[in-house]
Amino acid sequence: MAKVNLLLDDVMLNMGIRHFVSWDTKNNRVLIVGQSGSGKSYCGLLLMAQLAIALPCTKLFVLDYKGAEELDFLRSIEGSRYYYYTQCIEGLAKVHNILRQRLEGDKNRQPVFIFIDEYNSMILHLLAYDKKQASICQSQLNDILFMGRSLQVGLICSCQRPDTTVLPSGSRDQFAVRIGLSSLSREAKEMVFGDAKEQIPQDFTGGQSKGFMLTDGKPLRQVRVPTINNMPKLQRLILKSAVDDTI
Ligand SMILES: Nc1ncnc2c1ncn2[C@@H]1O[C@H](COP(=O)(O)OP(=O)(O)O)[C@@H](O)[C@H]1O
Ligand SMILES: [Mg+2]
Repeated sequence: MAKVNLLLDDVMLNMGIRHFVSWDTKNNRVLIVGQSGSGKSYCGLLLMAQLAIALPCTKLFVLDYKGAEELDFLRSIEGSRYYYYTQCIEGLAKVHNILRQRLEGDKNRQPVFIFIDEYNSMILHLLAYDKKQASICQSQLNDILFMGRSLQVGLICSCQRPDTTVLPSGSRDQFAVRIGLSSLSREAKEMVFGDAKEQIPQDFTGGQSKGFMLTDGKPLRQVRVPTINNMPKLQRLILKSAVDDTI
């Protein structure tokens, strides 16, 4: 596992100092919350690229239920572990199967990560049309959240609203890293940060790519998602982790 410089410390940045808040990849359950346009997919790109650098052997699965523009570059790549719309069911099942095999004795601990963009859209849509399938997906995600840590099966989950309909029965508490972007409703702050929400300054007005990050056992940090200056290079890094036929 490795520590990576992930997001900029916004308090320092406001003083003109670029200082990074790190992410220890052993904390392999990450929740990203924010309204549409707050920068969740963009932040997800950054996490995936950092993973590709820090743990180059990572096998990445990307689930893109809504077809985010930021993930367009993966869509047409033959053999990539990229899943769009209802294919996301298959992508999640594949990762769950890797977890199951490891639970049943497979000693392989090659890091596996699944990035699920707009997870609540996926579940709410499935709940409306196929309740049984929605419940299967939720159980699979729960298994990854509850048992993936030591088995090296990680999850990065982006959500507009991580309520109990989408993340039921304590599963939200399993995220070791929570990132809340832009302005969140009082309710959403409670869902993402719990008691630490009290540390959010009253005068915080939000804004795209600005927010807070809470890592288990650490104080809340005010952060800004850095701008990616070389997008093609970053995309190539992610592609390397998402295209490989050895798993
Ligand atoms: N840190 C950032 N620096 C520069 N542009 C950003 C940043 N975060 C988001 N954006 C831009 O803002 C827009 C919305 O971001 P996006 O990640 O799509 O939001 P969301 O997934 O929450 O709807 C995108 O066009 C993206 O390119
Ligand atoms: Mg998005």
